Amino acid sequence: MILGLKPAFGEPIQEILASPAADDLLESGVDGAALRKGAEDLGSLGAEFIIEIDSDPRHRFDLLNLVEREDRALLLRRSVARRNMPESVGMETESDVQAQRDFMYGELDLGSLTIFSGSFINYGYWDQLDPGHEISVEERTASQAELYRQVVSRLEPQAGQRLLELGSGIGVGAALVARQFGTSVSGLDRSPAQLARAAEVNAKALKELPLSYHEGSVTEIPWDEGTFDGLYSVEMLQHVDDLAAVAREAHRVLKPGGNFAVATFFSPDGADTSQVADLIETVASGVDVIRPVGEFAADLTAAGFGEITVTSIGTHVWRQFDQWVGQTEHRDSWGRNWLRCFESGWVDYFIVTARR
Ligand SMILES: C[S@@+](CC[C@H](N)C(=O)[O-])C[C@H]1O[C@@H](n2cnc3c(N)ncnc32)[C@H](O)[C@@H]1O
Repeated sequence: MILGLKPAFGEPIQEILASPAADDLLESGVDGAALRKGAEDLGSLGAEFIIEIDSDPRHRFDLLNLVEREDRALLLRRSVARRNMPESVGMETESDVQAQRDFMYGELDLGSLTIFSGSFINYGYWDQLDPGHEISVEERTASQAELYRQVVSRLEPQAGQRLLELGSGIGVGAALVARQFGTSVSGLDRSPAQLARAAEVNAKALKELPLSYHEGSVTEIPWDEGTFDGLYSVEMLQHVDDLAAVAREAHRVLKPGGNFAVATFFSPDGADTSQVADLIETVASGVDVIRPVGEFAADLTAAGFGEITVTSIGTHVWRQFDQWVGQTEHRDSWGRNWLRCFESGWVDYFIVTARR
């Protein structure tokens, strides 16, 4: 049920609808092959398009999925289109943005893109690399596992303690933590598709380790107060609109004296971030939110946490991640702009810790 084709660069909609490719689209209903061909043909006219299948945003993404999957392009071209449309057409509601995030970890299966590996989905914590070094897939996977170690070691976990991971993704990080630190780990993720992948990928670990995966949101953590000895999260808070709620929930489910440690990208306090959305598509679309790191530290304080530390780890992340992306088919994508944002002082990667 195609309701409309929205041109991004101002082409009159009638002209687009009159093109042979659009006829194909309209006649084909939701037939995948025809939709993709139609979208490619329309793209060759030199414009970017949002193609609405009906008013349900998830259906719109079905088409983007078909288009994007083929060339494994990094992310939703739609966000570029949105920026080029009149305000009233391009406005995203909060639920649109959340639907994009859910699509990314659902059907798009972000973790299957070559910029990630080993079922991890993070930018990694790396040693310094020689610029001429050819990074292997094993080294890429090791960088992502190392980011987990960097975060969880800051909790100073004791064997047998109970930890909660917020945004556990495909669950390989939670399994690593349970195995290496001897703790029990509960992984929480809002994406049923990610949880299904986690169950499959970690089938053996789930039998051997005190490990479990659960569906739910980090802004409404589905456990009683004082349940966990430690809480951590790796590259997920950038997807949360209400970090104050996460801080409150983390404080609620931690035992007194329990530690909280997170890693993700924020802006350094006082940084001018006005150009970031022009360079990073997921920031333009609202899928990723870049906040001053001090704002999150203030949320933690307001929630009752103390002993807050903020550590920049950007020199272990961005240049090496960029070197890896440069080796993949995404070498010409906007994903390369992360390094520029870091080098310009607009974005950095941080580990933030706090004690309840
Ligand atoms: C970038 S991935 C990181 C996964 C994992 N931590 C890793 O490093 O491999 C972010 C994950 O957070 C989950 N997520 C995003 N928003 C969430 C929310 N509000 N509550 C729970 N999980 C969320 C996504 O479904 C996704 O699996």
